[in-house]
Amino acid sequence: MDIVLKVNNLTKTYSGSEGKQVRALEEISFEVPRGIIFGLLGPNGAGKTTTIKSICGLVQPDAGSISVNGWDVQCQRAKALAQLTAVLEGNRNIYWRLTPRENLEFFAAIRGRKPRRLNREIPELLEVFGLTEKANQPVRKLSRGMQQKLALAVTLVTGAPILLLDEPTLGLDVKASYEIRSLLRRIVQEEQRTVIITTHDMNVVQDICQHVVIINEGRIVANDNIQHLLDLFQVRSYDLVVGQLTPGQRTGLEQIPHLRLEPVNSGWQISLDMENPTLLWQALDVLGSEQTPIESVSRKELNFEKVFMEILGGAKA
Ligand SMILES: Nc1ncnc2c1ncn2[C@@H]1O[C@H](COP(=O)(O)OP(=O)(O)O)[C@@H](O)[C@H]1O
Ligand SMILES: [Mg+2]
Repeated sequence: MDIVLKVNNLTKTYSGSEGKQVRALEEISFEVPRGIIFGLLGPNGAGKTTTIKSICGLVQPDAGSISVNGWDVQCQRAKALAQLTAVLEGNRNIYWRLTPRENLEFFAAIRGRKPRRLNREIPELLEVFGLTEKANQPVRKLSRGMQQKLALAVTLVTGAPILLLDEPTLGLDVKASYEIRSLLRRIVQEEQRTVIITTHDMNVVQDICQHVVIINEGRIVANDNIQHLLDLFQVRSYDLVVGQLTPGQRTGLEQIPHLRLEPVNSGWQISLDMENPTLLWQALDVLGSEQTPIESVSRKELNFEKVFMEILGGAKA
């Protein structure tokens, strides 16, 4: 496997107010293979932005090392940083007085891209990002979603193979968030670039990330493939809606482990979280004893949000 980023035992302590030391990262290590969307997740204050800034050389770690495509961020800084481009948290890396076209031209030029290729590439990027119509308007007049899309386009025009995006969908409406997600998928699939993204939004994670690292209080609590994490936490969960129950049936059902009973409009809802499928038979026996009508049976889908909460819950315990 082709590894594009290696983070090795990264540790960072900030000196906070009144001389208080804040341990933001504690011996974080992970590797990112080429050509995937890699999620760096964790609650507020976990250390995500500190990690991203350390990779970009903007934060000086106390210990540990980072290499980007084999170049060390500290010892071979220029070579390492030439491999990557970033959109930092809440900061659209674009000039507000310039137009989208001018921003693309400017950022391509400072990265030394050749003008001949850009004559084709810039109109293509504007088109793909839905910015052709606004190509000649000052950026400050564009919507937040369009500004964010331009910020992403600017990272692409630099030609760097690795993109670091800190909360790229934060504050965007649903439509813009979907558009950004499909653009990211396309970049990775068609161009074999690598995207490292931090986000709070577990829908974004489940939708586009192949692999995640979860950080909590400066330490890694999970480092795994998304599908594997979902499988690991996959509990068989069922919801049944049934008719009226006799007091005896209610007592019988309440004795079944991992079963919750709640009144609904015309009867009861039974929720079962279980590792052992025989529990469902027990519940069905109780219902069958009075021939209680079963109105619906559905299997609950496990989403990544739940996995995330379980992992963090486990980390705190
Ligand atoms: N410049 C700074 N000075 C002092 N403390 C900081 C600074 N930047 C971040 N921190 C602290 O470091 C921890 C990690 O922050 P950060 O990396 O921004 O987390 P995240 O991006 O996951 O929300 C937090 O406790 C935060 O308050
Ligand atoms: Mg952050």
